[in-house]
Amino acid sequence: MREKYKIASLFSGCGGLDLGFIKAGFEVIWANDFFKEAVETYKLNIGDHIVYGDITKINSSEIPNDFDILLGGFPCQGFSVANVKRSMEDERNFLYKELLRLIKDKQPKFFVGENVKGLLSMQQGKVIKMIIEDFKSLGYNVEYRLLKASDYGVPQNRERVVIIGNRLGLKNPFPEKSHGLVNDLFNNSLKPYVSVKDVVGHLANIRTRDKSFELENKIIYNHLARTNVADKFWGRKHKVNQHDICDYLKYWRDRSGWSTKKVDEHFGYAHTAGHWFRKDNNSGSIPNPKDWWELKKILGFDDKYDKAVTELELKEIKFEQSLRINNWELPSDTITATGPEIHPNRERRMSVRECAIIQTFPDDFIFTGSLGNMHKQIGNAVPVLLAQKIAEVIKIELDEYEKSNKKTSGTTQADRKTRAKVFE
Ligand SMILES: C[S@@+](CC[C@H](N)C(=O)[O-])C[C@H]1O[C@@H](n2cnc3c(N)ncnc32)[C@H](O)[C@@H]1O
Repeated sequence: MREKYKIASLFSGCGGLDLGFIKAGFEVIWANDFFKEAVETYKLNIGDHIVYGDITKINSSEIPNDFDILLGGFPCQGFSVANVKRSMEDERNFLYKELLRLIKDKQPKFFVGENVKGLLSMQQGKVIKMIIEDFKSLGYNVEYRLLKASDYGVPQNRERVVIIGNRLGLKNPFPEKSHGLVNDLFNNSLKPYVSVKDVVGHLANIRTRDKSFELENKIIYNHLARTNVADKFWGRKHKVNQHDICDYLKYWRDRSGWSTKKVDEHFGYAHTAGHWFRKDNNSGSIPNPKDWWELKKILGFDDKYDKAVTELELKEIKFEQSLRINNWELPSDTITATGPEIHPNRERRMSVRECAIIQTFPDDFIFTGSLGNMHKQIGNAVPVLLAQKIAEVIKIELDEYEKSNKKTSGTTQADRKTRAKVFE
């Protein structure tokens, strides 16, 4: 049997999905993302095989051929099947097509896609149908399931759509639930759900800090947290379209002759201005009012968006979205890519390390980048343990396939010995 099955990974982020497969005994030979900080984190903890860049600009010939599985938690913002024009505007809609392209060009034995639960209800189910049909048209058996991470021992009720396909004529394996309610009458073999307290209780009263420190003979990394726990914030009064504003600023920057680098230098920023002039991916941003007025001085733009960008008002933070108190004695709510929940001690939000632990990243997995960027990497990730459970069942299928295939092609040692005897 083969030592390690090989993987190529798209939309790898900081590597939650990849790490789960590695823990199950797979080898990732190529990975990709265009989120710089996530790529740095990936390199630091997993390996240098990750390529930084936009996948839509990477030719299939630049990607190795010899892998067994293709992974890809493709982004799906703004999907639309009916309104083609609208969806054409948002190129992210078509990112699953990158997965399709590589399946077609590289013919992996299996592929695994991952997405948010909302994918199932988009356009009354038409989007998932379209995606599955597209994968099937490449000659793959394709199935999808909605998996809840807490059912697999992850201390989090995160639900994700997992799509698995194979071209070997095999069934697509999904892992069996291992955890549940202690008093589940229908399945008493399940272990009890893992709670937030079980995994991060030891950090509850530990001061957050920038640097790593030792606690009970363990080094604690990234135990840093936001301290904004108010229930109001200053937000924009008017609705604004980030794409329009980025386009507008780009136009005025070109007209003024300023380079992005020069704008950054003017403000004393390292990479901020690039986001103001960029609309083609999910990392564009609108300047805050103070920066907007300064930008206006140097680029000399008109008044078109002044009001929209700079008028603020005091807004309530919606309880469910941002102020939820963590389910301390239960699996947590979904760890998101934006603001983490407020810690039960109410003095701070959940720290980067606490979120990472809830996403089942190992304690020595170190995140890099700004606080917001670290939370984004963690919130984007597939829980490592869930990924590992998926990987384990796929590995069983692949092992069995290799075994029976070798038998039929007469290449196992046992078979060779038997045949040798017959001809003796
Ligand atoms: C949901 S996250 C994937 C998380 C990852 N599977 C994990 O478990 O850690 C989606 C990723 O797709 C990346 N992405 C989006 N568009 C991309 C593109 N055009 N090229 C490369 N990466 C892209 C984002 O930067 C983000 O990290």
